[in-house]
Amino acid sequence: MKTLQQLINSNRQWAQWISARDPDFFEKLLHQQNPRYLWIGCSDSRVPANEIVGLMPGELFVHRNVANVVVHTDLNCLSVIQYAVDVLKVSDIIVVGHYRCGGVESALKREKLGLIDNWLRHVQDVMEKHKARLAEIEEMTEKWDRLCELNVVEQVVNVCQTTVVQEAWERGQEVAVHGWIYGINDGLVHDLGFSATNQEEMSAAYRNALNRDRHKVIWET
Ligand code: CO
Repeated sequence: MKTLQQLINSNRQWAQWISARDPDFFEKLLHQQNPRYLWIGCSDSRVPANEIVGLMPGELFVHRNVANVVVHTDLNCLSVIQYAVDVLKVSDIIVVGHYRCGGVESALKREKLGLIDNWLRHVQDVMEKHKARLAEIEEMTEKWDRLCELNVVEQVVNVCQTTVVQEAWERGQEVAVHGWIYGINDGLVHDLGFSATNQEEMSAAYRNALNRDRHKVIWET
């Protein structure tokens, strides 16, 4: 029987390490989780949500899928957003893409990988929508990275357009939606300049985010 003993051993060490620092840590988590943030990111093993922002268990609600896509009919992602907004009452939803995303690359190159091609069709839709912007970039890696950014921007809009977020905004609940991108090469996240707490802000933020040229961006740290 295959047991992955190495991972279980590693888990025991991790739990001991946490308990040594705070003996009540797990006991406290038993009673409630109170995360302020919902992270919607890529499944890529190089982009581990909690580690990147230095948050402990209980502090980050997470949904990940290939290429951090938010589809209007994806019951899985929508349920996560609804639970996060309506039940946990998170203050911020962050869509976090990353440069050199394999899913985005496959979409860009129209690779044939199987079932996943259907999922990545959503990223190809983003590519079609911004065909003119992408055509201005000749270098393939630059084009790839730009599509990673544009994909985040479009997915942030999709989060804002969900009935869950729309209804939260209508009843005056404070929920901000943000777009970030992560650099696998340096471990740094960057704000793509898209942050919205209502419908008007969303429209302005969308225009802003699209007009930012990657090469001219002075990253906020
Ligand atoms: Co990815």
